[in-house]
Amino acid sequence: MARVNDIRFIGYGVSDLEAEKRFYIESWKLEEVKSPDDMVYLVAPGSTATYSVRLRETAEPRIDVISWSAKDRDEVDALVPQVEAAGGKLINQPHDMNTHGGGYGFRFFDMNGFTIEVATDFETRNPEVLKSGEARPEKISHVVLHSPNHKGYVKFYEDALGFKVSDWLGDFMCFLRCNKWHHRMAILPGPPAFNHVAYDVPDVDAIMKGVARLRDTNGDITWGPGRHTAGNNVFSYYVTPAGYAVEYTCDLEEVDDATWEAKVHPPSKDVMDQWGFGVGGPETMPKPMPDAGLFKDIGV
Ligand SMILES: [Fe+2]
Repeated sequence: MARVNDIRFIGYGVSDLEAEKRFYIESWKLEEVKSPDDMVYLVAPGSTATYSVRLRETAEPRIDVISWSAKDRDEVDALVPQVEAAGGKLINQPHDMNTHGGGYGFRFFDMNGFTIEVATDFETRNPEVLKSGEARPEKISHVVLHSPNHKGYVKFYEDALGFKVSDWLGDFMCFLRCNKWHHRMAILPGPPAFNHVAYDVPDVDAIMKGVARLRDTNGDITWGPGRHTAGNNVFSYYVTPAGYAVEYTCDLEEVDDATWEAKVHPPSKDVMDQWGFGVGGPETMPKPMPDAGLFKDIGV
């Protein structure tokens, strides 16, 4: 089965471009990269991708595109029939892309209507190696989406893009991997909505320094810091000016992609957070609302 192998970038539409850009640069510590158009491109300094976030101004917040990478052109081509058989709606066939960074890829609407891109051969960069305690993002770690048919959505991502289930939290949250890391995606019930995107930071010291910097700049912590059980990662959630949740995370579990067997973690307070001293909880996260960008590809 053909598979994607990592996350490349997330494209957002936001109603206050300047505020969102300021948050990502001053508070979140993404770095702005040169833009060939009127959109804003930001990169996590430890990333090999030339950008991790793309922003443009829109009347209301929306997800423009979630872009995944695949290992080569043959793999990209092999993903097309899988996506179609799983019920994805192709937006275009694999082609040499003229979006920033180029590459070869295609787009489709997933079961919920999110615009998903799969690409390879795009430009890459030499990543910066971050030091212990540096509260700056290394790369995107995972994305979390809601679906009204969350079990069907899990199956869609298994069949269409070759994700493997790593763990379930009860019967409502599913963690999926596309490489050696415990999860690159997680799925929750709810309206067709984006829940959050997480960024790896070097370690717990970086998480803690991040808590302080965010509090002193554009936004206090929304939930955390704590340590999840599924994936064993440390978490700390914040909300951007546009209302999108973002997470600094570290210590995500590395698994044997070939042999790891999925478990079900019975949900409890201790399972959601092994430490139990942080602020907030799932109830303090933004309420999921159907995304404004569903089934509307913007073509770039
Ligand atoms: Fe997360």
